[in-house]
Amino acid sequence: MAPAAHRPARSWNAAVVRGGHRLSEEVPLSGNTWVRQTHRWLSIVFTVTVVICIVAVLAQQAPDWVFYLPLLPLIGQLVTGLYLFVLPYTARRRAARES
Ligand code: HEM
Repeated sequence: MAPAAHRPARSWNAAVVRGGHRLSEEVPLSGNTWVRQTHRWLSIVFTVTVVICIVAVLAQQAPDWVFYLPLLPLIGQLVTGLYLFVLPYTARRRAARES
């Protein structure tokens, strides 16, 4: 395995490994990967809905519901984003408990 210093700095695992724990071996990451991919793809869906809103404003003849479209992916992003945010803290606590 590559030394911690050679891992990408923005990697969540690298940050945890730098803290002295080898979490990539102790914490299952499959859920994390799934949520991160969902968050990534929702960001594209969100961007598309924002572009639709901009076009609707320029066209000046769109129904009101069009402007609520970005809220759908945004709610998904809020949930998955908050999960991603707390993940390092819960994983670190779990690792500390198991060591
Ligand atoms: C609505 C509330 C949101 C919350 C709470 C949130 C939170 C987060 C968190 C905690 C991460 C992980 C950062 C890390 O690597 O440690 C993340 C990654 C990311 N977010 Fe969000 N986010 C939100 C909305 C958005 C929106 C609106 C976009 C774009 C339109 C977006 C795009 C991304 C992308 C592209 C990543 C990187 C995903 C990856 O690592 O592959 N997020 N977000």
